[in-house]
Amino acid sequence: MLRSKIIATGSYVPEKVLTNFDLEKMVETSDEWITERTGIKERRIAEGKQAASDLAFEASKAALKMAGLKAKEIELILVATVSGDMPLPATACILQDKLEAKKAAAFDVNAACSGFIYALAVADAFIRSRSYRRVLVVGAEILTKFTDWEDRTTCVLFGDGAGAVILEATEEDRGILSARIHSDGSMWDLLHTPGGGSRNPASKETVRKRLHYIKMRGNETFKIAVRTLEGLIRDTLKENKLKTSDLALLIPHQANLRIIQATARRIDLPIEKVMVNLDRYGNTSAASIPLALDEAVRIGKVRRGDYILLEAFGGGLTWASALIKW
Ligand code: ACO
Repeated sequence: MLRSKIIATGSYVPEKVLTNFDLEKMVETSDEWITERTGIKERRIAEGKQAASDLAFEASKAALKMAGLKAKEIELILVATVSGDMPLPATACILQDKLEAKKAAAFDVNAACSGFIYALAVADAFIRSRSYRRVLVVGAEILTKFTDWEDRTTCVLFGDGAGAVILEATEEDRGILSARIHSDGSMWDLLHTPGGGSRNPASKETVRKRLHYIKMRGNETFKIAVRTLEGLIRDTLKENKLKTSDLALLIPHQANLRIIQATARRIDLPIEKVMVNLDRYGNTSAASIPLALDEAVRIGKVRRGDYILLEAFGGGLTWASALIKW
């Protein structure tokens, strides 16, 4: 049976650190509130003209180095992002140019915080259908450039970064065992950026009304996320005839420590088996899972034969899981 396996990972975060104490000087908030409500202590901020493809480029180079591959050996590039370099063209094409991956097809996947798993599912389907043998999948975000720094309910949450994996076709009994993607568009307005698209094209008015910034009804999103993630994980395990105790590591989207803890509690998974790094990076949307996965791999938290579960919930609404035998 043909599967896809992750043969390498890479990540990159900008150098500039913004702490909760820095935010205390910008809006009416406190380190105590942010830590208690989110678990976030600091986040990385892209500077100047740095764009999503620049972060994606660094993460991709690290993954290619780990794989010992040249960019021209990549056949498909997928970039999951909602903060791409520009509306046109795809950030994946700009990344392809930077990498000089001349033989690859390239396109973006927009599924907010679930974007990386969505892109992984697309790559997996292409590999299983024998369309491509080697795919670069990247999650890259600079949400802080779409953050309203006067809105304390959102500006404390987001950070910038990128993570990449290289997938390769394998006949071995390991790799991605299942990838599930889901959406419910009826709640699209819980989390959205109203301006800059064809609904509200950029104008002085859209700028004046602050429509180019991310708007989120956080508390409603929080409740739906916890409920949905529990069902998603239970279904994914059942489909693969596994129990929670079979999991070596859960790598959740890093939105909020309380969502992560509640999810782990509901499925009876000890918190030691959950990868958490949002204290250092905040919510990096589509980049959060590949960032955490790369860290887990590099510190030796992931071993051959381990069952690893990735899960995410985000704007759209979208949610997704991927079960991997490493
Ligand atoms: N500092 C101090 N007080 C604040 C801040 C802040 N930064 N932000 C909000 N508050 C206040 C609110 O005004 C409110 O005050 P009130 O009670 O006087 O009205 C109070 O704190 C509670 O606000 P809530 O919104 O109810 O706080 P909650 O506990 O829900 O935490 C948070 C907010 C952190 C946003 C949480 O709801 C959350 O994490 N939601 C889910 C986010 C998520 O998963 N999004 C999907 C992925 S993101 C993506 O797809 C791009």
